[in-house]
Amino acid sequence: MSDRQDLAGRHIVLGLTGGIACYKAAELTRELVKAGATVQVVMTEAAEHFIGAVTLQALSNRPVFTSQWDAREANNMAHINLTRDADAVLIAPASADFIAKLVHGRADELLSLACLARPITSCPLLLAPAMNREMWAHPATQRNVAQAIADGGHMLGPAAGDQACGETGAGRMLEAAELCDELIAFFQPKLLAGRRVLVTAGPTYEAIDPVRGITNLSSGKMGFAIARAAAEAGARVTLVAGPVSLRTPRGVTRIDVRSAVQMHDAVLPLAASSDIFVATAAVADWRPSSASAQKIKKLAGSSAPSFELTENPDILAAVAGLAKPPFCVGFAAESSDVARHAREKLKLKNVPLIVGNRGPATFGLDDNALLLVDAQGERELPGGGRRADKLALARQLVAEIARRIKS
Ligand code: CTP
Repeated sequence: MSDRQDLAGRHIVLGLTGGIACYKAAELTRELVKAGATVQVVMTEAAEHFIGAVTLQALSNRPVFTSQWDAREANNMAHINLTRDADAVLIAPASADFIAKLVHGRADELLSLACLARPITSCPLLLAPAMNREMWAHPATQRNVAQAIADGGHMLGPAAGDQACGETGAGRMLEAAELCDELIAFFQPKLLAGRRVLVTAGPTYEAIDPVRGITNLSSGKMGFAIARAAAEAGARVTLVAGPVSLRTPRGVTRIDVRSAVQMHDAVLPLAASSDIFVATAAVADWRPSSASAQKIKKLAGSSAPSFELTENPDILAAVAGLAKPPFCVGFAAESSDVARHAREKLKLKNVPLIVGNRGPATFGLDDNALLLVDAQGERELPGGGRRADKLALARQLVAEIARRIKS
């Protein structure tokens, strides 16, 4: 379990408007609080038909606001007070009607009043639409959404899929965890805005026969964390993943492969148009020269099979050898002498940056320690002999890469 508090110190006004997706807002409140945010819930009257204010009060640990005539506020100006310390207003669910109201600057109840009265430059407005697919697709809604974006609003979703009404299509509100991730990403500095980033992750699997193969213990977690951190930093990210069952980070394009040759063939056509290539995959160095088409049987009295091995292509070296290579970052997972091996790989693979780490000791864990080795010297992340969560490290690594490609 990670103890990262990605929203620590953030104050979020969470607005609920009328829609069945209000049930997800309870989970969302919990996710935001778990991530370290303080959450001030504001509900419209319609939202109160779907979920009780008591539930949101218990989960946010704060009284919920439902009326602009709330006498608890000394100056009786809840609509002003609510957003003055807020880092963002998140409307989830945002109904078609509420978006229409925002676009027209209407303010006949507390939530729309607070949105209108918020300091527009310091308190961004994020909207998580939730409605029936026909309502979402309606030209009026699409017009309103475009206007809300033009007015500085940010749309989170909607997703497509099964709807509460029994229909299937676009209009579902994102899940609570997805919305929380979106909010976390929103606050990350856009250090790689407009950049294209290509990442390899996970192990490869080299078939011996249809049921057996050679693989390794790489979990893919570091590579997935780097893909997520790069996407949070505003990059367009493609992740070429070996066989792992990790969730694809939001906004990342994923290509699944199995063998080193497949990974090589997926990476090379994309590499030339990428600005940055981060090779975290633990690529098998060798593969059986010819995989058996049939399962190899253990026959009584027969000896153990033996294999010829063929060397796999070195993907990182191939990318670094392109006429105009992207900024290449290699990983060195070593069981000993991390710094020495990392420096050797810097030369051998002819790349500007190698990230050394203790291979077997970190496989599968959620935390790690990295040693950045380049022509200038060495730098530990997080430093001081400590370890840190892989996503926190990935964000630091992204910042290091951004600094290098700028200078
Ligand atoms: N790498 C690659 N293609 C390969 C082998 C490695 O792209 N066929 C990349 C890895 O993704 C990593 C770096 O090269 O970024 C170093 O990988 P590693 O396996 O540690 O190095 P090797 O060159 O295989 O050396 P050794 O196994 O002897 O440590």
